[in-house]
Amino acid sequence: MPDPAQIELGGQLYFQMCRQCHGPELQSSGAGSFDLRQFPPDDPQRFRESVMHGKNDGMPAHDDILTNEDVDALFAYVVATQQARQARKP
Ligand code: HEC
Repeated sequence: MPDPAQIELGGQLYFQMCRQCHGPELQSSGAGSFDLRQFPPDDPQRFRESVMHGKNDGMPAHDDILTNEDVDALFAYVVATQQARQARKP
């Protein structure tokens, strides 16, 4: 189980650095960014690679501003938010 403090940190980082493109609660604003609700929860390596080094033109690299611990926290937040959303559906 991920640590709640880690999810909390991930949520703060998400709010500051990712939300403007990926939307509140991972709900993309529709501006062409990847829908993080669909990101495979069993692929932390792909997550790290994309967040640290960016992807195509749209997704910026973050390796100058985020630590590996930050990326772990962001991934924990993304997976926890996916699960919370699923729990809310019938
Ligand atoms: C400037 C807008 C922008 C910001 C800021 C941004 N993203 Fe993205 N992100 C994108 C776009 C656009 C894509 C789609 C890239 C593509 O596949 O062409 C994307 C894709 C992704 C993907 C999927 C990559 C894959 O493997 O297919 C992940 C994961 C992701 N972003 C996480 C994050 C996280 C975490 C943050 C905050 C640290 C963040 N993004 C900040 C625009 C952004």
